[in-house]
Amino acid sequence: MNKTIRHFLTLLDLSSEELNQLIQRAHELKRMQKNNESYTPFNNKVLGMVFEKSSTRTRVSFETGMIHFGGQAIFLSPRDTQLGRGEPIEDSARVLSSMVDIIMIRTFEHSKLQTFAKYSSVPVINALTDLYHPCQLLADIQTYEEHRGSIQGRTAAWVGDGNNMCHSYINAARRFDFKLNISTPDTFRPDAEIMAAAGDHIEFFSDPMEAVKNTDLVVTDVWASMGQEDEQAERMQVFKDFQINAQAMALAKTDALFMHCLPAHRGEEVTAEVIDGAQSVVWDEAENRLHSQKALLEFLLQRA
Ligand code: CP
Ligand code: NVA
Repeated sequence: MNKTIRHFLTLLDLSSEELNQLIQRAHELKRMQKNNESYTPFNNKVLGMVFEKSSTRTRVSFETGMIHFGGQAIFLSPRDTQLGRGEPIEDSARVLSSMVDIIMIRTFEHSKLQTFAKYSSVPVINALTDLYHPCQLLADIQTYEEHRGSIQGRTAAWVGDGNNMCHSYINAARRFDFKLNISTPDTFRPDAEIMAAAGDHIEFFSDPMEAVKNTDLVVTDVWASMGQEDEQAERMQVFKDFQINAQAMALAKTDALFMHCLPAHRGEEVTAEVIDGAQSVVWDEAENRLHSQKALLEFLLQRA
């Protein structure tokens, strides 16, 4: 095992050039699929999918992507594998990676994913941890480009929780060279180190309405992420001024887009009027999970 294995644990695992090429490939793979072109380069290749949290989009997009490519995907839940019974992560990584060609993991602690990758002999993809959700950003950038062209030099606003999605937006601002205005309640700010590393690609605003002013893209996410269900009631109070509604969208540029990784809670972080309105591109964003992750699978499998 002398060859360096490429993993996708955060957006920073790929260079700006690689990420931009991957997005171009995602556009191409989408066109090919719309034209019913068959492209099956990964016959007999198997993706192992470890899910320790729920998922609709991530599971279906990865599974469908592998089927399109002529390969297969195996869904592994902790409920019916030894993963949920305390088998050491290092052992699971060695065993699973000796059988499958590529692995994606959705889990809680980011360190668990890092340990898994360290002991894996095949590429590992972060399908969401408490700290990051990089796959979603591939779809978001693809979607922005589809509607408005390059995001380079544009300004996006992140309003809500300083969570996994926010952290991946911060990394995206670095890699895709755009400006990110961030507004969260003071006690729910993003990780200080992740913010510091982004330098002047980001700016923090205490007032969410200041953050969205004159932006090209407005993004939010749930106020209580998976694993934080017990905090839901408290968070509803703390985040109540951080809702994306018509007033907030009116402050952004007139052609600004609205994105949300979904699932969404209408009436909480976003109003129905906005998410179901003309500026919202959330359905394209969800669909592009499929195309951009196919580009990611191809990138990693071709280098494995
Ligand atoms: N956006 C996203 O990751 O959705 P799922 O939780 O349904 O996979
Ligand atoms: N921040 C959300 C994203 C869901 C796709 C969560 O972690 O639950």
